[in-house]
Amino acid sequence: DKGNHRHFMAKEIYEQPETVSHTLSHYVDMSSDKVALREALPFDFATLKRLTISACGTASYAGIVAKYWFERYARLPVDVDVASEFRYREPPLEQGGLSLFISQSGETADTLAALRYCAGQGQHIASLLNSPESTMARESQVVFPTLCGPEIGVASTKAFTAQLTALASLAVAAGVARGTISAQQEAELVHSLTTLPTAISAALALEGQVEDIAKRLSKAKDVLYLGRGQMYPIAMEGALKLKELSYIHAEAYPAGELKHGPIALVDELMPVIVVAPSDELMAKTLSNMQEVAARGGKIILITDEVGKQTVGEGVAEVLVLPKVASFVAPILATIPVQLLAYHTASFMGTDVDQPRNLAKSVTVE
Ligand code: M6R
Repeated sequence: DKGNHRHFMAKEIYEQPETVSHTLSHYVDMSSDKVALREALPFDFATLKRLTISACGTASYAGIVAKYWFERYARLPVDVDVASEFRYREPPLEQGGLSLFISQSGETADTLAALRYCAGQGQHIASLLNSPESTMARESQVVFPTLCGPEIGVASTKAFTAQLTALASLAVAAGVARGTISAQQEAELVHSLTTLPTAISAALALEGQVEDIAKRLSKAKDVLYLGRGQMYPIAMEGALKLKELSYIHAEAYPAGELKHGPIALVDELMPVIVVAPSDELMAKTLSNMQEVAARGGKIILITDEVGKQTVGEGVAEVLVLPKVASFVAPILATIPVQLLAYHTASFMGTDVDQPRNLAKSVTVE
């Protein structure tokens, strides 16, 4: 049932204040602002030397954001790779390490093969899944649920933000166990997660402005997405969503890589979507953005009030998100990239819920 929405995807985008809140209530105790994992862990975060994450598509971008979080807050080294590469590389893995697999369906062939490889290497096997009855669930020692309900649209939306919410909570839990964050920091980080549902609702209200931008995006042949640090995987997610839904060619680059090649693509016809809510790296990204603007690129900046004040004039469009703690900013910044792809595609009249050539669950390699 699509409710009042034209597509399942729209319904799923709009469910996110509730789904994020629901996921969060599984992982944290909102009354004390502490993480509270319910799953019995077959490993100990305190003594872990390395975390290896494998996943495909959108789930792999959740893994990249998680790498920033685990490294920053838990000082835990993280390797993350798409499962289709990881499985054939056969990387050496230290006995007793932790391997984590992220999947909405729990059935993706490459991710499952990566899981089986890691199990064979004596790794602890953990999965973050939306389908508790899946093959990956059966083959994992511990399953962390995303709890966002069935996702019908082929393009992943609410599963991604649920994955991020769970991963953020796990990174805080790891930080607490490893003594790399204080009780005070734990409370601040958990509190910042609890601000998300309201902030996401506010971001969804950008829809009218997004529709205007989408009309123009629908005429583009190529679109560039830029982000730095934890915003880089959100740029990748934005580019993937646009490709999947509208069939417009889109690429994401880490903002600092721009001058190493891709800036050659920029001309007056090139929309460039810059994902830069205010954080420690925003100023760097904005200076890369000015280089694009100087070459005529049409900038669409996703930021917050602080970012908007910093850029001043000269940017074609600014989508202003509510200000949240930088820890949770990638989760919030996902909303406008989803809306941009959705509205560009629905404006073009493509089959949003069932894009050509794609399957919801990729069970063959
Ligand atoms: O079910 P999974 O999470 O394992 O699926 C992984 C990818 O196939 C999936 O995220 C795909 O990239 C989506 N179509 C993205 O919107």
